[in-house]
Amino acid sequence: MNRLDQLATLLRFPSISAQKEHARDVSDCADWLVDKLSGMGFEAVAHKTHRHPVVVGRSPREEGRPTVLIYGHYDVQPVDPVELWESDPFEPEVRDGKIYARGATDNKGQLFAHILGVEELQRQNGGHLPVNVIFLLEGEEEVGSGSLSLFLKEHRDELACDVIVVSDTGMAAPDTPTFSYGLRGLAGAEIIVKGPSADLHSGVFGGAVANPVTALAEIIASFHDSEGRVAVRGFYDGVESIATWERSMWATVPGMSNEELAKLTGVDTVVTEAGFTGAECIYARPTLELNGIGGGYQGEGSKTIIPSRAFAKISCRLVPGQDPERIESLLEEHVKTHTPRGVSVEFKREHSGRAYVCDPNSEFGLAAQQALEEAFGRKPVLVREGGSIPIIEEMKNVLGADALMLGMCLPDARIHSPNENFSVELFTKGIEMSQILLRRLGQIKR
Ligand code: BES
Ligand code: MN
Repeated sequence: MNRLDQLATLLRFPSISAQKEHARDVSDCADWLVDKLSGMGFEAVAHKTHRHPVVVGRSPREEGRPTVLIYGHYDVQPVDPVELWESDPFEPEVRDGKIYARGATDNKGQLFAHILGVEELQRQNGGHLPVNVIFLLEGEEEVGSGSLSLFLKEHRDELACDVIVVSDTGMAAPDTPTFSYGLRGLAGAEIIVKGPSADLHSGVFGGAVANPVTALAEIIASFHDSEGRVAVRGFYDGVESIATWERSMWATVPGMSNEELAKLTGVDTVVTEAGFTGAECIYARPTLELNGIGGGYQGEGSKTIIPSRAFAKISCRLVPGQDPERIESLLEEHVKTHTPRGVSVEFKREHSGRAYVCDPNSEFGLAAQQALEEAFGRKPVLVREGGSIPIIEEMKNVLGADALMLGMCLPDARIHSPNENFSVELFTKGIEMSQILLRRLGQIKR
């Protein structure tokens, strides 16, 4: 089967980790990856966990070569709103040079480029590789990597490596190779505001009973000041400042000027924290976002009630220097002290993770920069990723290795959204880039 057909097969598994009814599809997808890696002579296993399998595939060990752990995730986000897809999310279709499917970019297309890169290297070198390769492919990245987090600690010796390679981050533009040396962390929570024990008639009781939706709005309005800063006390304590070289580098990243960001996202103007550009805010400033809000009547026409409850889901993106647990405590404290009289609040913590940053100019980092330049014919831009892959920081902690993040997620890849796609040309480039990178890493003496 040709490369694109193989990718299409991988994309056909509806491996949605968040939805219980897809658990079987997730494990079928893991089994397919195991078969693929076994076919390459790898020792591959889908390890059972309490949720979705962790796939580990190891190349036959050769002494004296560095060990490279290639991380990826084969689980995907849910597809809804499904009616906005132009083709079936799990029946991949190529249109205008892009393959459309859920997971095309995030992360099956990118991880598969590495698998095919490794396979191609083997073919060229009589079955040998310039490095020892461990593929570590999880099925829970989109739901917080709970199983992999435990797995890492239980299998740390088996996963020992010199460096980690990940393609699951952004790429500034198709012709701009992008090396990410950092990720933001995450701290999430749900706030539930409780008022009367049932919805009330707003005429019969209105005026005498606090309204949970109004109370929630008040709480939400207290989260930011008029300068776009987060108004939670202590939120910025310890936040590391942006280096001068980073500010100059980021000002040159294609597509990341305030004007381009506004255009890309379909807004009139970007709105940032005072004193920072959009790029700086995305790469290196912490945020507090409302992800969803609900409560009361949402149907057709009017319904005169005082709702009994209201809720909001929030998430903070964190930067180096911030501790997710401390941030969650500060948030909870803030919500408690800003809750108006007459209602009560429940504060539920959601998954969290620390920010990650490494030295882009380490020996491995420089090899990655050179590999990107060789593959794409241009010097890479050095950025920090605004998104999060919390397990990377845990891998650094447990395995002691840094992650080289060579992302191929284009701004218009529509990840987590309808019509997710991956450029076929980029897929091909990714296969080449993986080979160049592993060759270069193989030259580093341990
Ligand atoms: N691949 C993404 C991270 C990412 C985001 C890369 C944007 C490039 C651009 C990853 O799969 C992801 O979506 N992570 C989640 C965190 C997770 C704990 C749900 C995120 O950033 O929201
Ligand atoms: Mn994702």
